[in-house]
Amino acid sequence: HKRRESIFVTMNYAKDYFMRMMQISDEGKSLGLGYFKNRKFNGDTINTFDLGYSLDSWDSLEKDATQKGYTIEALELAGLRSENEKGRKYDRFRGRVMFPIHDLSGRVIAFGARTLKKDGKPKYLNSPETEIYHKSDALYGIYQSKDAIRVKDRCYLVEGYTDVISLHQAGIKNVVASSGTALTEGQIKQIKRFTNNVTAVFDGDAAGLKAAIRGVDMLLQQGLNVRVVRLPEGEDPDSYCDTLGGEKFAEFLKKEETDFILFAARLYSEEAKNDPLNKAEKIREVLKSIAVIPDTIQQEIFIKECADVFDISVESLINNLNEIKQREI
Ligand code: CTP
Ligand code: MN
Ligand code: MN
Ligand code: MN
Ligand code: MN
Repeated sequence: HKRRESIFVTMNYAKDYFMRMMQISDEGKSLGLGYFKNRKFNGDTINTFDLGYSLDSWDSLEKDATQKGYTIEALELAGLRSENEKGRKYDRFRGRVMFPIHDLSGRVIAFGARTLKKDGKPKYLNSPETEIYHKSDALYGIYQSKDAIRVKDRCYLVEGYTDVISLHQAGIKNVVASSGTALTEGQIKQIKRFTNNVTAVFDGDAAGLKAAIRGVDMLLQQGLNVRVVRLPEGEDPDSYCDTLGGEKFAEFLKKEETDFILFAARLYSEEAKNDPLNKAEKIREVLKSIAVIPDTIQQEIFIKECADVFDISVESLINNLNEIKQREI
């Protein structure tokens, strides 16, 4: 494991380098620090999340690193270098603000790097998979949030890096991000070390909502109690927290959070209106989620609530649920 150890050391160095460049270089101060100031991130927040800036240069990291005794091979193993079709190699992160991703013990295992350009592509350039970074296991914010998650016995789940950071700065510190994808079993296991209660905060747009709803099944399957909050159209947690201010946003979360199954049932029931076939389809969608819940007592409670929402008999829901469970085996 000497190689893994060397990657950890290299990533820690790179994190320090990006932080230093943001604090002392003219480019970093004006573009990097300027960007975060625009987003109202304060100095404490920048330090808590180790935020930094990568200079707009092909080899500034390479030069500094090799001067300090790090080998090019170490930089490559850490995913800090890229290569074009002609085999030319260069620093992977250039002219971007840097969001280090930490593991549970606080070691930097990867970077998310945001473009500063209005429509720059990709918006976020992330580290490639390395010997210490498996994208599907990483949970952004877990290191900074784990104590608060334990104390509050609840974890807010948001989509992005900046959502975690903004909420943290607003005093809502029990928050992690899925980084834009559905949560994996490995990520959920990390949450479960600290709490069984998750509140997923969904962006308001309808398209994202459907994908987010399916993503919740994995949480239910792992036995977590899942609540959800839906934000107004066009808002994400960062933007809405900024709009309302931290205190009002915290109140909003507390007031709006709904049990997930009830939320899905109401949403689907409303969508189905009075079209019977559509309604049957939507009921089955909700039953699919109920079917993955390990606790059968919880299942029964949800079935009763769904019977109310959809105005349908408990017996017929239970029959359907059993059919779905059988198909799954
Ligand atoms: N994401 C990513 N790569 C991309 C786009 C998004 O990894 N090309 C991940 C990032 O973790 C990002 C999250 O998906 O934080 C949510 O994406 P998005 O909502 O587009 O970004 P925001 O976090 O809202 O970032 P910003 O507020 O800076 O636009
Ligand atoms: Mn491994
Ligand atoms: Mn989004
Ligand atoms: Mn977003
Ligand atoms: Mn955003």
